[in-house]
Amino acid sequence: MNTDLLQLQPYPFEKLRALLGGVQPAADKRAIALSIGEPKHESPAFVAKALADNLSQMAVYPTTVGLPALRQAITRWCERRFNVPSGWLDADKHVLPVNGTREALFAFTQAVVNREADGLVISPNPFYQIYEGAALLAGATPHYLACLDNNGFNPDFNAVSAETWKRCQILFLCSPGNPTGALVPMETLKKLIALADEHDFVIAADECYSELYFDEQSPPPGLLSACVELGRSDFKRCVVFHSLSKRSNLPGLRSGFVAGDAEIIKPFLLYRTYHGCAMPVQTQLASIAAWNDEEHVLANRDLYREKFDAVLEILAPVLDVQRPDGGFYLWAKVPMDDAEFCRRLFEGEHVTVVPGSYLSREVNGVNPGAGRVRMALVAPLAECVEAAQRIRAFLKG
Ligand SMILES: Cc1ncc(COP(=O)(O)O)c(C=O)c1O
Repeated sequence: MNTDLLQLQPYPFEKLRALLGGVQPAADKRAIALSIGEPKHESPAFVAKALADNLSQMAVYPTTVGLPALRQAITRWCERRFNVPSGWLDADKHVLPVNGTREALFAFTQAVVNREADGLVISPNPFYQIYEGAALLAGATPHYLACLDNNGFNPDFNAVSAETWKRCQILFLCSPGNPTGALVPMETLKKLIALADEHDFVIAADECYSELYFDEQSPPPGLLSACVELGRSDFKRCVVFHSLSKRSNLPGLRSGFVAGDAEIIKPFLLYRTYHGCAMPVQTQLASIAAWNDEEHVLANRDLYREKFDAVLEILAPVLDVQRPDGGFYLWAKVPMDDAEFCRRLFEGEHVTVVPGSYLSREVNGVNPGAGRVRMALVAPLAECVEAAQRIRAFLKG
């Protein structure tokens, strides 16, 4: 067997199962899970229809590069969303469909890391677990940058040494962040691009929550918009990851894209051809419909806005918790050990949340997720409100 597999950490949900395994929750209260980040709003009917209308495409093998029409639809979406001037993104060179960002983040790391160079894959901490597993299986060393409240839950990139940047092969960004909900500001994105040029590393910007935000007047900036502001029309060293899972409530469709530097996309396509991760044609056709429509995305944001308003009204008086800049998580500070909080909340109120320390790694004795919990506001409004009321009762009791 591949001995690198032994380096993989148990997934946070495995740890959570172990934590709650022997605990008997209050029998009179129905279970409410704020633990899993799975969108629960209804999938758009027109996407389901496009999928159903094209089921006959099951009869054909899809190509890894995907349909030109899908890459065109994605290109137009990037132009609209990130103000990319027409002609900068070439649908044939800069864009690839992927089966959700999870597989893409993993596969991308395998394609980019040079195993012979003793390289680092730098990521925020806490972080989406795939960054770490992908780095380990690619033969790189994960390097974690703490996201603390004293820096707006962004890594302190200024504190990273030139030696560390020199060894960096991929810098993962996650904006809006999971679990912190923080955005990487435009100025920071630009500085990071300058650092990538100076030290020759790739920036992989995981922007799968980019369409979940609160202020309709200021959508989160992305790495493509930073390239636009810098006049960087070749998107050198920059690749973004987007998904229909959160934007369009289609986590089971498995559809997203990567876009950016053509010199990276080309070898990544080669890697994917061997890896065998072509998107089924019917999924591609349904995805075109989804990327071409913003109305359902606006309605989706309205639903989250309503839930955050209601839940924060209940929790803010009793818990140190803020509205995030984007995404669908609350990253709350709790008045006790985070695992203990989760265990006791589950036992007393039958509400499941994730201990922050399970989503982070301890570095130099500090786990930046310790003392916090992640709550995903994915359930329907009434359920989120009930969960918030139970958490409030738990804290007051
Ligand atoms: C930060 C982050 N990136 C990527 C993903 C993967 O999403 P998908 O594969 O559905 O696009 C998730 C899913 O929860 C996530 O939280």
